[in-house]
Amino acid sequence: MELTDIESDLTSVLYTEDQIQAKIAEVARRVEDDYADRDVLLVGVLKGAVMVMADFARELKLPATMDWMAVSSYGSGTQSSGVVRILKDLDSDLHGRHVIIVEDIIDSGLTLSWLLANLKSRGAASVEIFALLRKPEAAKVEVDVKYAGFEIPNEFVVGYGLDYAEKYRNLRGIGVLAPHVYS
Ligand code: PRP
Repeated sequence: MELTDIESDLTSVLYTEDQIQAKIAEVARRVEDDYADRDVLLVGVLKGAVMVMADFARELKLPATMDWMAVSSYGSGTQSSGVVRILKDLDSDLHGRHVIIVEDIIDSGLTLSWLLANLKSRGAASVEIFALLRKPEAAKVEVDVKYAGFEIPNEFVVGYGLDYAEKYRNLRGIGVLAPHVYS
């Protein structure tokens, strides 16, 4: 789905497909340099990270492997609480592995700070983060993100994996959702 297909549901376009792909390529070049002599395991966090994982993994000129987790953070509505439950765990043993967590967005930072500690505790040799989007104004905890994409304002964004009530994940770009859609 293109941004133009749902124009009236958006108040603005944040990033087009081309801008997203350019950013992913930029991060991929950095990761290729940093992991030239190490095997990398990409850990995607379902469901939002599906698009960024698919594009990032294919852009990498390294034989990366992929695994997936699904987590749910307890909280009221759109507010996450920091208490995280694993809905689907990794298939891989992390002992000695070099892991990059691939995320679509860091909002409060609570999910990723929990995940980072959790994966490190499983004996990974290293754990880094690639997050395509980050909302600095929404941060409740600081998370050390080695590979950061775009910094965005604290608004309701959808597309490229990000949803509102499970919709808009299949949008090629990223936009700000119009209030009439959710109010
Ligand atoms: C989103 C996103 C992160 C988390 C970030 O997932 O993919 O995992 O929220 O929020 P935080 O920084 O405030 O913890 P969500 O729980 O919406 O699930 P989804 O990926 O299935 O849409």
